[in-house]
Amino acid sequence: MTATYVRACALTELEEDAPKRVELDGVPVALVRTEGEVFAVSDICSHANVSLSEGEVEDCQIECWLHGSSFDLRTGKPSGLPATRPVPVYPVKIEGDDVLVSVTQES
Ligand code: FES
Repeated sequence: MTATYVRACALTELEEDAPKRVELDGVPVALVRTEGEVFAVSDICSHANVSLSEGEVEDCQIECWLHGSSFDLRTGKPSGLPATRPVPVYPVKIEGDDVLVSVTQES
């Protein structure tokens, strides 16, 4: 299946290490610009219904503010308890000033 990319926002709207929540085709997504790259992961923590974009970014991980599990922005894997399941990670493309994300296919 080929990925269908939709425009999420302008690259200039993303501040370094400041996650942004967007909804793409009904899917809540946390966009994070960090270490020269843009990542897109599910905005919902795999442990409970908590918005990851309200958490902090450090070392290419986003931390869930409620119980402190951090998720790797590249793989979605949690670094520690209480979350045990990864969050979905979505492919990102940058075209000019547009950030494009495919939520139809997890990377
Ligand atoms: S809700 Fe995210 S770690 Fe518990």
